[in-house]
Amino acid sequence: MSTVILKNIKKEFKGSTVFDSVNLTARSGKVIAIKGKSGVGKSTLLNIIAGLEYSSAGHYYFNNINMSEKNFNDLTSIRGESIGYISQHSPMIPKLSAFENICVPLWFKKEEKKIMNTKLKRIDKLSELFEVQSQLSKKIEMLSGGEIQRVGVIRSLINNPQLVVADEPTGALDDETALKVLSCFHTLKAEGVTIILATHSGIVAEQCDEVYHLTKDGLFLETV
Ligand SMILES: Nc1ncnc2c1ncn2[C@@H]1O[C@H](COP(=O)(O)OP(=O)(O)O)[C@@H](O)[C@H]1O
Ligand SMILES: [Mg+2]
Repeated sequence: MSTVILKNIKKEFKGSTVFDSVNLTARSGKVIAIKGKSGVGKSTLLNIIAGLEYSSAGHYYFNNINMSEKNFNDLTSIRGESIGYISQHSPMIPKLSAFENICVPLWFKKEEKKIMNTKLKRIDKLSELFEVQSQLSKKIEMLSGGEIQRVGVIRSLINNPQLVVADEPTGALDDETALKVLSCFHTLKAEGVTIILATHSGIVAEQCDEVYHLTKDGLFLETV
């Protein structure tokens, strides 16, 4: 279970307001899309939700934790425990295999052997779901863009996050592959995972449970 509650979030850079009065309540088990024109602040808002940056005003509660009051070290550990972050171009280590790249988040945890076995099972399950089993042992530089993106999604899920924040996760993918990623997100909902993504694509937004429009003056639920 996870909840994301944004209350009157405002972001400014050097005195200039990007957006203001952003409110959102997102409970477990939903795929939520945030649309909005380029430059309106989608990435900035997702960074705030992922605990990668602070809002300038307002409050952000993740699972009842007031994230606005946590220091950056705390945010980093909350992220490591509970939040998966995916961007349009998942940064990978090209000389390492897909499997090794997926395991990078585990470097920061002292995993016991028993836990490691559980992780291996999870990688197995996710790579089947995302159809990249046969690519796991290949170096990242040998994979296609779509495969790399799916490997990035698996990497963000390796620590069983309750919340996945995805910044245009399908931006570099063709429609068919994008829909495959979306259908995987829906599968994750069964685990109680909340997914919040930014997208430009109408096709992607159509597949989401709720679609919001970000403007300078707030976040508005789109009626279908
Ligand atoms: N670190 C930063 N410093 C100054 N301005 C920034 C910074 N990050 C983003 N911005 C500005 O905030 C606005 C929103 O950017 P962004 O969140 O990337 O929008 P979107 O993802 O919707 O295209 C843009 O005008 C951008 O230039
Ligand atoms: Mg962006």
